[in-house]
Amino acid sequence: MKIKNLVRENILNLKPYTSARSSYLSGILLDANENGFGSVVEDEYSLELNRYPDPAQKSLRKKMSEYLNVPEANICFGVGSDEIIDLLIRIFCEPRIDKVMILQPTYGMYKVACDINNVKTINVDLTESFQIDFGKIKEFYSDEVKIIFLCSPNNPTGGLISKSDIINLADSCDSIIAVDEAYIDFSENDTLTSEVLNHNNIVVIRTFSKAWGLAGIRCGYCVADEFIISLLMNVKAPYNINKFIFHIINEAISRKSVKDDFVTRILHERERVFNELIDLKGIDEVYHSDSNFLLFRCDNSKNILNSLAEKGIIIRERSGHKYLNNCLRVTIGTVEENMLFLKSIKELL
Ligand SMILES: Cc1ncc(COP(=O)(O)O)c(C=O)c1O
Repeated sequence: MKIKNLVRENILNLKPYTSARSSYLSGILLDANENGFGSVVEDEYSLELNRYPDPAQKSLRKKMSEYLNVPEANICFGVGSDEIIDLLIRIFCEPRIDKVMILQPTYGMYKVACDINNVKTINVDLTESFQIDFGKIKEFYSDEVKIIFLCSPNNPTGGLISKSDIINLADSCDSIIAVDEAYIDFSENDTLTSEVLNHNNIVVIRTFSKAWGLAGIRCGYCVADEFIISLLMNVKAPYNINKFIFHIINEAISRKSVKDDFVTRILHERERVFNELIDLKGIDEVYHSDSNFLLFRCDNSKNILNSLAEKGIIIRERSGHKYLNNCLRVTIGTVEENMLFLKSIKELL
């Protein structure tokens, strides 16, 4: 597929900003109007915070390349995966002309990012079992659809979308297929990252905010065709990834076993919470989850939500879609948090 044909003309013609640190990261650095004397907190962190970070994200991309077994040229980091979502829309969608298709129900940020960029969205429902509905996509698809967003495992429904269906979609559409894998670590299924080498229109978006436990530092990345990555690198803010992120993510990847241990514990708890919830009178349905949360349907969901909040237990209402009437979403917490949640909801039901 010719990705070039999907890109906005102003982005194709863009002469990107060449930052001082694009050329030199060391030497007698008198080129970027930094403070050569140091930073006011330098001794505490030893990160040379007086110097700008590497705009090319070289060390991080190398580390991630080894971790994923995907070339560095196919990886770009963003300030949370939310930044990647926004950049994709800005690269491919001409405001008020192009469209983005969103497979619903799903994560709300795709639509918000389109609204901010003045890009029209077409909501297409997944099937009732939350899989791709090819018939519906065909019905609403047009040449103006530059990106199709889908999320697997999906938020808020929790389950995976068939990998072979996603690949079929990529093969059958002349659009970018943006696959959000924020929750992939909690699933037993393979990621699509290796597919970007065979399908140049698949962009896999991932984050350190979930399994890695690093929501506070704001770091996401995407794996995509080399040309798409070069566009992302041109359009992102030159120094989007700061030195704290470099330091922490570098450290985090070296401690993969800690992440794996978190995942094991969360999956164990997910099974326990699922089994207890499903047996409760007043709970109509608990959806299968490949994520770190459970979606369930119960009588009087609004009252349950509010009464739990009064007890200091905060979960999320997710009933905004016709498939999700009376649905609530609960994140799997620690053993103690889950016990308190289950005890409280039992009392309320
Ligand atoms: C599906 C999905 N994608 C992306 C994000 C946001 O990720 P980040 O924290 O990397 O911006 C979330 C956050 O809840 C999410 O549910």
